[in-house]
Amino acid sequence: MAKNSLTYLCSNCSHSSVKWLGCCPVCKEWNSFIEEKPAATPLLGPKKSFGRPCAIETLILRPLHEIEFSEQSRMLCGMPEWDNVLGGGIMKGSLLALTGDPGIGKSTLLLHVAHKLAEHHTVFYFSSEESLEQVKLRAMRIDSMSSNLLFSDRANIESIILTAQEKKPDIIIIDSIQNCFFSETQSFPGTIGQLRETSFALMRLAKEYNIAVIITCHITKEGHMAGPKTLEHMVDGVFYLQGEDRWHTRILRSVKNRFGPLNELGFFSMTTKGLEEVPHINQYLLNETTTAPGAVLVSCLEGSRPLLLEIQALTILSKFGMPQRVVTGLDQKRVVLIAAILEKYLHIKFSSHDIFVKVSGGLKLTESSSDLAIALALLSSYFQQALPEKSMALAEISLTGALKPINALETQLKEAQKFGIKTIFVAEGQKTNTSGVIKFSSVYQLLGLFADTPPTD
Ligand code: TYD
Ligand code: MG
Repeated sequence: MAKNSLTYLCSNCSHSSVKWLGCCPVCKEWNSFIEEKPAATPLLGPKKSFGRPCAIETLILRPLHEIEFSEQSRMLCGMPEWDNVLGGGIMKGSLLALTGDPGIGKSTLLLHVAHKLAEHHTVFYFSSEESLEQVKLRAMRIDSMSSNLLFSDRANIESIILTAQEKKPDIIIIDSIQNCFFSETQSFPGTIGQLRETSFALMRLAKEYNIAVIITCHITKEGHMAGPKTLEHMVDGVFYLQGEDRWHTRILRSVKNRFGPLNELGFFSMTTKGLEEVPHINQYLLNETTTAPGAVLVSCLEGSRPLLLEIQALTILSKFGMPQRVVTGLDQKRVVLIAAILEKYLHIKFSSHDIFVKVSGGLKLTESSSDLAIALALLSSYFQQALPEKSMALAEISLTGALKPINALETQLKEAQKFGIKTIFVAEGQKTNTSGVIKFSSVYQLLGLFADTPPTD
């Protein structure tokens, strides 16, 4: 094999191999090897400076109380849906990555944020994916033209870093990191080697010059942030922008944040004039609920935020030997398990019924606190009897059919009561100060909610 031929790099752990491998021998990840052209000069050659030139010297160590810190270290943009997800604004000197499907609205969101931040801070926006005319068109569309906000469409990372080092802005935005490149390396922009180098250089810039750096990052077809795993480790925060097409809703989710809470959500709506915040998401979600057989409300805590969702179930006598279980927004195995518990203890023949369950709003429910709501939705559909208007259920169900209390109930009850939800079913053992909740100790008692009529199907 020629000396300068291709090498293959594992996109998960950056292990290199001269031939393509199905499974990485180091991290055991499957299908992670990507072709990589060799660099003309060594990747971390002496010519390349990633930050201040560093002399080798004896270091001076300091106790933490000598380190200055003020709330000024956070830069708020005035959009609560963005600021809260970041843990109270952008931390100075942090390196943050925003990722999401193509066309979901990353550039639009960052343009809104940059426009707001530019009122009080110096912001440089490097648009390596789009020309300045295209950016201007978007800025005009979303009414985000500002003379304080400065743009460039250059993608050379050395020039970007040099400009930032000399002009010392508070924030730089790079849209996207996949299009940036080091002039000295031969490999294509977006390849693992380039991404590793550019993100390392940006990390040094952020820490040494106290400049907040926000990068947008492409997503893989599996839905993960594209690039080497080291990129995720290196950045201080990873934020996903996800979408629900029916409402044009965009959800900003923190999946890593060194300076704020995890899984915090921010809600936006894509309109003809860009992304608008949706501060009252529960009102939005509850507007869509119905009082019909099979519908039950449930609440889940996403970060610090209680969300009120509706679980909808449909059970129908199966026409085939193998009944169907079609579940969206919930773990299918959990629905099957709850159906089995109800069949065992209440003698309801779910095993001869097709079961369809979904969660409203396209959101996913992973918490076991929704067990009781799933059970009630199934029973309500089976008996074709609606529960009282705006009924909510919050309890876990054990394999023995006993109902178990859940965590952080009070926060969720408070939010539910704000929206006039009065019928709330919880477990007998649940300690709560809220009056009016209805307690059950086991699934046997659930039958009492339905008149004893056989199902219509
Ligand atoms: P964009 O921010 O370019 O997405 P990304 O950077 O994640 O690729 O958003 C592009 C989409 O958003 C495109 O489908 C059009 C839509 N859009 C609107 O609906 N309204 C608007 O005001 C803007 C600017 C975009
Ligand atoms: Mg974009």
